[in-house]
Amino acid sequence: TPDISLANVKGHLNQLQQIANANGGNRAHGQPGFKASIDYVKQKLDAVGFQTEIQSFSYSGRTGYNLIADWPGGQADQVLMAGAHLDSVSRGAGINDNGSGSAAILEVALEVARSGHQPDKHLRFAWWGAEELGLIGSTHYVDELSSAERARIDGYYNFDMVGSPNAGYFLYDGDNSDGTGSGPGPEGSAQMEGVLEDYFGSINVATRGTDFDGRSDYGPFIRVGIAAGGTFTGAEGRKTSAEAQLWGGTAGQAYDQCYHASCDTTSNINDTALNRNADAIAYAMWTLGGSESANDF
Ligand code: PHE
Ligand code: ZN
Ligand code: ZN
Ligand code: ZN
Repeated sequence: TPDISLANVKGHLNQLQQIANANGGNRAHGQPGFKASIDYVKQKLDAVGFQTEIQSFSYSGRTGYNLIADWPGGQADQVLMAGAHLDSVSRGAGINDNGSGSAAILEVALEVARSGHQPDKHLRFAWWGAEELGLIGSTHYVDELSSAERARIDGYYNFDMVGSPNAGYFLYDGDNSDGTGSGPGPEGSAQMEGVLEDYFGSINVATRGTDFDGRSDYGPFIRVGIAAGGTFTGAEGRKTSAEAQLWGGTAGQAYDQCYHASCDTTSNINDTALNRNADAIAYAMWTLGGSESANDF
């Protein structure tokens, strides 16, 4: 599976920062920086052959958007999704939250095209609006799916904050192995976590489970029984001394001291964490996407 270029991912983050700078400093729901960012991502995907669609919704008197990008081919009834919220809070540019996940899945999608990848499953990428106001865009998407369309989605991977400066390596605990959150996720979630675990194992990075409680855009998916997974490098929580032993960084400090703050800029990124997570996303999409139907889950 491909090695995702950190330089390319950071290039997208620089573009998102510049778009924010030129549009009042953020990508918040209903603000011009959000739509300009959607257009940036869409134009990259259109140029390499994705089928893209902007889904509009209305929330608190303003129009929001999801961007859905389908890679042509694969089994139409075996859809593997990856998504990230593209909106920020209004306080700042939201480069770790969630430029990081947005840029990482964008580069993975572009690599699918570049390599002419033809997986067995049908790949779909999504950039959500208005996550920060309560998972509004992703909830709208799931609500609008017919039951037939829902049934075709085999799994959804979510990436929200994957470059935290004082990073942890957390996986949504789909198998409830760490006893976090509300118990195991829908059938298939454990396997989705297992694939990510395998990747981090292969680079000798330990992982820990994190709550599978719906505090990001996978929430609407698991609520309707769709398998989900994903990675997370931490938000306002503080790194424990055991975690600092495991991963380095600073015990007693927040994983991201700029969480939801104006200092969440391109300086607020841990390159190592971002690089590892981007490669993990590619590994998971290639592995579960399969090249033959042996990968049913
Ligand atoms: N969804 C939270 C936010 O955007 C961050 C978060 C991501 C929290 C993943 C927990 C797990 O602010
Ligand atoms: Zn946030
Ligand atoms: Zn977020
Ligand atoms: Zn687990």
